[in-house]
Amino acid sequence: MAGFGVQLHHHLPSVNASGLVLPAMHALSSLFVLGTCAVQAVVGHPGAALRSKREGDICKRSVDSYIETQTPIAWSKLLCNIGPNGCAASGAGSGVVVASPSKTDPDYWYTWTRDASLVLTGIVDSFVHNYSAPLQTTIQNYIASQAKLQGVSNPSGGLANGAGLGEPKFMVDLTQYSGEWGRPQRDGPPLRAIALSRYARWLISNGYKDTAKNVVWPVIQNDLAYTAQYWNETGFDLWEEVPGSSFFTIASSHRALVEGAALAAQLGTECRACITTAPHVLCFQQSFWKSSGGYIVSNINGGEYRSGKDLNSILTSIHTFDPAVGCDATTFQPCSDKALSNHKVYVDSFRSTYAINSGIPQGKAVAVGRYAEDVYYKGNPWYLANYAAAEQLYDAVFVWEKEGSVTVTSLSLPFFRDLIPSIATGTYAKDSPVFKTIVDAVFAYGDGFMEIASQYPGAGGALAEQYDRATGKPLSAADLTWSYAAFLSAADRRAGIVPAGWSAENGKTLPSSCARVQVAGAYAQATATSFPANQTPNPAAEPAPAPFPSTCANANEVYVTFEGKVTTQWGQTVKLVGSAAELGAWNVAKAVTLSASAYSSGNPLWSITVPLKAGTAVQYKFVKVGSDGAVQWEADPNRSFTVAAAAAAGGCAAQKVGGSWQ
Ligand SMILES: *[C@@H]1O[C@H](CO)[C@@H](O)[C@H](O)[C@H]1NC(C)=O
Ligand SMILES: *[C@@H]1O[C@H](CO)[C@@H](O)[C@H](O)[C@H]1NC(C)=O
Ligand SMILES: *[C@@H]1O[C@H](CO)[C@@H](O)[C@H](O)[C@H]1NC(C)=O
Repeated sequence: MAGFGVQLHHHLPSVNASGLVLPAMHALSSLFVLGTCAVQAVVGHPGAALRSKREGDICKRSVDSYIETQTPIAWSKLLCNIGPNGCAASGAGSGVVVASPSKTDPDYWYTWTRDASLVLTGIVDSFVHNYSAPLQTTIQNYIASQAKLQGVSNPSGGLANGAGLGEPKFMVDLTQYSGEWGRPQRDGPPLRAIALSRYARWLISNGYKDTAKNVVWPVIQNDLAYTAQYWNETGFDLWEEVPGSSFFTIASSHRALVEGAALAAQLGTECRACITTAPHVLCFQQSFWKSSGGYIVSNINGGEYRSGKDLNSILTSIHTFDPAVGCDATTFQPCSDKALSNHKVYVDSFRSTYAINSGIPQGKAVAVGRYAEDVYYKGNPWYLANYAAAEQLYDAVFVWEKEGSVTVTSLSLPFFRDLIPSIATGTYAKDSPVFKTIVDAVFAYGDGFMEIASQYPGAGGALAEQYDRATGKPLSAADLTWSYAAFLSAADRRAGIVPAGWSAENGKTLPSSCARVQVAGAYAQATATSFPANQTPNPAAEPAPAPFPSTCANANEVYVTFEGKVTTQWGQTVKLVGSAAELGAWNVAKAVTLSASAYSSGNPLWSITVPLKAGTAVQYKFVKVGSDGAVQWEADPNRSFTVAAAAAAGGCAAQKVGGSWQ
């Protein structure tokens, strides 16, 4: 959120960090106000970090007390921003999460699919940890609102081919926002699928599988279909500024597909599109890593004009956290060497960017923001960035303690050296003194990020979006819902409260090579949106175990990949129309759109995978559709083929057809 779309890049930074040299007096006083964590850094004995006992740590106590005070404030202000009854959300529809009550400068009086999903994932995780009937009502209202929203046609499109699900924001009464914007944003559907899957899994484990299947799954299914169909298309990043491929979007897509496949199995159904595409999404995800600098380049396929060092990547590590896969780097787990190296590079990019960080030495937490080149409100630290930077470290500590060791690799060594200069590469077991030193230092470093945020609150603990890079004064949207959610999840992780994983164990294997598999989805508006009463905790319910699917349940479904070599003009789209119902039954208005993600002038390839019934005789043609809707048909004859025979039980049948434009 918070962007104005593409036009932002045309503003040049009007504040240049190097222009903000502070007078000595200011530097001294800022050290004072930076509080216990920073003061400790300056006056502490050399090696203090090595010896600090977490319990006795003065920084820890200060963060303990911040969390105690801030937690009830954050909960109450977060819930204020959710309709219909939230104290700051008057006029918002039932279950609608308003981004911020701010209606001018900036106007955030909208609901963003991304923000709302992240907030709801936090709410569901809390609810799962500690049942609350009012929270459950909020979750159910949200699900009903999203079922409705999925059917609202908007400038990104409609539900028929899923395209409308990529619309980033809506009015708070669930009507479309028709103004100019950076659209589509493809992280919304996977993030919403994740939020809903969390609740569906709670329902299943408490004996309410029918509710999960009849009410929640139809909504999730649309979002998973969208993700499997569009993951390999460009879109705008989470800051709504960069068109291209965003690391956060791709990683969120991967998680949603894996979690969705596991959920489908639990529900006794299947998401074959999830199983088919997920490995290739993860494969593509690997290409954002810049090994020469040891960090994630957050925006590629168009975003390369920035360094790519971006909060995008820190948010990815915390939102794809699965404690069951340890420090796996393929899925960018918080404690992986890649994610820790990236944390350092990201944090260091702000050390000299913000005047407020002046005088804070390397190895101590600083104020962090979205990315150093940010010019939105002149570019400032964001509260949620500080919480996320802390949360990644708390997650890491949680896993090291659970696994009973920490491994320092040559890649993560610079991260650890900032905290413990004498550390060497190696694996340190839980009973070694070095293990304790590392865990204490990383935890304290995390606390530093919380402590910095704690120093610049608004009145009564209010959290805006940003705080001023020079003065720390709260800025931009007041009471940003996401700021409160980010605080609450960081506080939970710090307390060792972590959500269940998302089956990453089953989804972390890379294919032998990356492919652009995009599966045309079937979309239908979810209509059963009222929840039965009394879905209260029922721990005695024993959900039947459902193994993660490795085979296809429906042997009659064949994944047919259509490839057309069709040279097109800018604005033209290639579609596929044919005799099968899945191909629109010759109605060009229901034709299937192909993807140009592999298109180049040397190889004008358009392709899409469509699930078809085994053994069917099919006729079809490619058509070119202009931006004005004008349709140009291929010449006769019709193309024809017979869909392959059903696979042997457990097999996954697939075939490829197509050719050059005729
Ligand atoms: C659970 O939530 C209730 C409020 O609904 C709160 O009073 C209680 O302290 C919470 N318990 C835990 C263990 O977090
Ligand atoms: C699509 O996937 C391929 C293969 O991983 C990758 O090279 C390409 O950059 C991706 N494009 C987009 C827009 O996701
Ligand atoms: C192609 O199929 C359509 C729809 O069945 C039919 O009307 C048309 O005659 C076919 N074209 C040829 C050349 O057979």
